[in-house]
Amino acid sequence: MEKMWAGRFEKALDKQADDFNSSIHFDKKMYKEDIKGSLSHALMLSSCNIISESEYQKIAEGLNSILDDLNSGALAFDMDAEDIHMFVEAELTKRIGDTGKRLHTARSRNDQVALDLRLYMRAQVNNIISLLKELIGAVKDKAEENQDAIMPGYTHLQRAQPITFAQHLLAYCMMLIRDVTRLEDALKRMNYSPLGSCALAGTTYPTNRDMVAKDLGFDGVCMNSIDGVSDRDYCIELESAFALIMMHLSRFSEEIILWSSWEFKFVELDDSYTTGSSIMPQKKNPDMAELVRGKTGRVYGDLMATLTTLKGLPLAYNKDMQEDKEAIFDACETVIKCLEVFIPMIKTMAPIKENMYAAATKGFINATDLADYLTKKGMPFRSAYKIVGTIVSECIKKNITLDQMSLDDYKKHSDIFESDLYTEISLETCISKRISKGSTGYESVKEQIQYVTELLKQ
Ligand code: ARG
Repeated sequence: MEKMWAGRFEKALDKQADDFNSSIHFDKKMYKEDIKGSLSHALMLSSCNIISESEYQKIAEGLNSILDDLNSGALAFDMDAEDIHMFVEAELTKRIGDTGKRLHTARSRNDQVALDLRLYMRAQVNNIISLLKELIGAVKDKAEENQDAIMPGYTHLQRAQPITFAQHLLAYCMMLIRDVTRLEDALKRMNYSPLGSCALAGTTYPTNRDMVAKDLGFDGVCMNSIDGVSDRDYCIELESAFALIMMHLSRFSEEIILWSSWEFKFVELDDSYTTGSSIMPQKKNPDMAELVRGKTGRVYGDLMATLTTLKGLPLAYNKDMQEDKEAIFDACETVIKCLEVFIPMIKTMAPIKENMYAAATKGFINATDLADYLTKKGMPFRSAYKIVGTIVSECIKKNITLDQMSLDDYKKHSDIFESDLYTEISLETCISKRISKGSTGYESVKEQIQYVTELLKQ
């Protein structure tokens, strides 16, 4: 196919160079946005008397028929086209003749591609926000059902203090809520139309950029034409937000992998989200969680790739910028695929409360509460901490837990100890006495569930 820009050249582009240069195999994804943007542009051209009303009608009909045929599959993408923009324009001229050649008036592919990518990513981000909200809801529901499930809370992966499974799950709700607000925040900043920036310097035609911006649901236009065609900040912002989402899903996955091991057995994953081994008949592997954890790396890679591509670019458009799309498409699709499998995996995950509780009875996770017991009876915390440390060491030697030590033995360490210590260090008391805001206490967990529920209603 002859290039649109062939007039200036004496020789055709080398075949390999042509393939190297072409982006249609990935930017064809944006065909709907490309056509939508062109329809809006053509409408503006006619309303500003740059093209006639009847020319607009012809262009609109042609573009709509292309859209229908691409949607239905009646029209295939021409993989010899340089990119989606060239393909649609060539197809339009094929269908409606010379009028098709008027569409590109007061526009360049530089502002066109900038527009298409913003429109495409805006829709994708809204899709991701809905998926995140669905996940937050699923995690919150799991928390609501497991407010009484006591388990060990960990630091350094060592049993630390008793918590409820609900409190642990709600921590993920808070992370995912921040992920939603980060995307919403980025959407606000990116929602300006670059169209009409043209190649880089604007145009001599009396265009109306605001009209196009409004028609396409933007909050306004990019205020500087050079910035309009050169800005890919939003790609990096979105990729950073995607990287954080993946980091959260990856930490969650890591815990699910641990929890479903025989060493923990705190949860049982549903058969439909686990796989078997080709050789070991007993295996039930948490592949979905592992893949989510694994795919985090490629999303980080996409962020790094875009940051690096943009780093040394002089203003305005450079062909390097064509590299923006594969990275952000990959990051975005990875996040979507991960969320789509993560959500049902969470919904069907069954906690095993007895095992959580059994693990909580070991590891002296009520030692802080024993120290607090002494402190509340007047002993300075540091002294109480030291005494309890000695008691723990004695228990380890005797292979008993804190509640198995006799009151007589306790009294050898301090005569402050009375028989009420046993209720004070019971796991249920450890939870119910956590009264600070945001704590694992039953009331606090209810408050958190309420908070998440309210946010999801908005
Ligand atoms: N395929 C190109 C891209 O994705 C479109 C813009 C081309 N502009 C140009 N001046 N060659 O960036």
